[in-house]
Amino acid sequence: MDSLLNILTQVMYRTNAMGINSTRGFHRKTPIDLMKELTICETLASSSSPHVKALGLSEGYGSMIGDFLERKGLLTPRSSLLEIGGGYGTLMHGLLSSHGHLIHKAFMMDLSPVLLRKQRERLMGFQGKVCFIQTDIHEFPCAKHRLDLIILNEVIGDLDVATDLDPSHLPEEASSIISAYGLEVPGNEPFNLNTGAIRLVETICSLGVPVFISEHTCDPIIPYSLPYLAEGLSLDSYPREIRLHAHSEYTIRFSHLVKVAQALGRTVQTGSVMDLLCIEKQPSWRFIFSCRACATEKQELIYEFLDHVREYRWLIIT
Ligand SMILES: C[S@@+](CC[C@H](N)C(=O)[O-])C[C@H]1O[C@@H](n2cnc3c(N)ncnc32)[C@H](O)[C@@H]1O
Repeated sequence: MDSLLNILTQVMYRTNAMGINSTRGFHRKTPIDLMKELTICETLASSSSPHVKALGLSEGYGSMIGDFLERKGLLTPRSSLLEIGGGYGTLMHGLLSSHGHLIHKAFMMDLSPVLLRKQRERLMGFQGKVCFIQTDIHEFPCAKHRLDLIILNEVIGDLDVATDLDPSHLPEEASSIISAYGLEVPGNEPFNLNTGAIRLVETICSLGVPVFISEHTCDPIIPYSLPYLAEGLSLDSYPREIRLHAHSEYTIRFSHLVKVAQALGRTVQTGSVMDLLCIEKQPSWRFIFSCRACATEKQELIYEFLDHVREYRWLIIT
C-alpha cells in the first residue's frame, strides 16, 4: 500500500510538458524525516552525535559551518542571515550557539509549516533574534531586510528538475538556459537538468547577497588527501534521481551553477564538504574505506560517513 501511494504521489508530482520533478506539493503537506534522509547536518548534529565522536570531532556541524564562514570572511559582527530549508533548525542552533555574538538577525524560510514549527521550538532560546517565514523558494520574494548571507544546506536537490531531456530535442526553457550560460550537456543520452537550482542562483546573483550552498552532487571534488574516496565514483555525471519516501530528489551538477554565477559576474569558490569540516584525517581510514574493514561500531560509523560525504560539495558565490 505504501509503495502504491509512493508511486501515485510521484506520478502526481511529475506532471508537466517538460517532465518536471517537483517536490513542492510533498514538502507543503509532509514534513520530511531527516533521520531517514540522513543529512550531513543531522549526522553531525552536535558534539554528542555518534559520528562526531567516531570521527574525533569536538563540535557539531552548525558550529563547524560557522568557523568556515568566519574564515571565508562571510560572518562578521552584526550579520543578518537567511537560512532557507533549515529542516529541524539544527544548523542554525549550532551556529547561534557558537557564533551568536556575530549574528544580529537570523531569518528561517521554509515551505513546510511543520518543519517551521520544529525550527521555532529548536530555536526558542534565541527568541528576538530569529524570524520564521513560510514560502516556496521557487517564488523567492525580494528581500525586504538587509541580508549579509544566505545559507542553503542540502535544499537545492529538492528544487525542480527537468527530467529525461533529449539533447537533440530540447524543450524551449531548457534550451534557453543551456545556451544562455554555455552549459555542457551529454552528447546523445537523455539527461536531467537542475532548473530550479539554476533559477535560484540567478535570483540570488541578482540580489547581490553572498550565498553558501552545500548539496549532494553528481560532479564531486575528491579531497587531495583522501584520493581513495574516488573509488567507484563518477566525478563528471549528470543529475541522478534519489528516490525517497513519496518524493524524489536529484543530485546537483555544481559545474552548471558555477557557470551561471560566473556568467552573471559573480565570484565562486567551491570544494568538498569533507574539506570544509576540517576533520583530522587518519591513515587507518584508507583501509576501513577501501576494504570495508569494519570490526567495530566506530569503524562502521567512519565507513558510513566517508561513503556518504564524498558525494557532497559546497559552493560560495560572492
Ligand atoms: C533535505 S531537507 C534539509 C534540511 C536541513 N537543511 C539539513 O541539512 O538537515 C530540505 C529542507 O528544505 C525545505 N524545502 C524543500 N523544498 C522547499 C521549497 N521549495 N521552498 C522552501 N523550502 C523547501 C524542506 O522543508 C526542508 O526543510
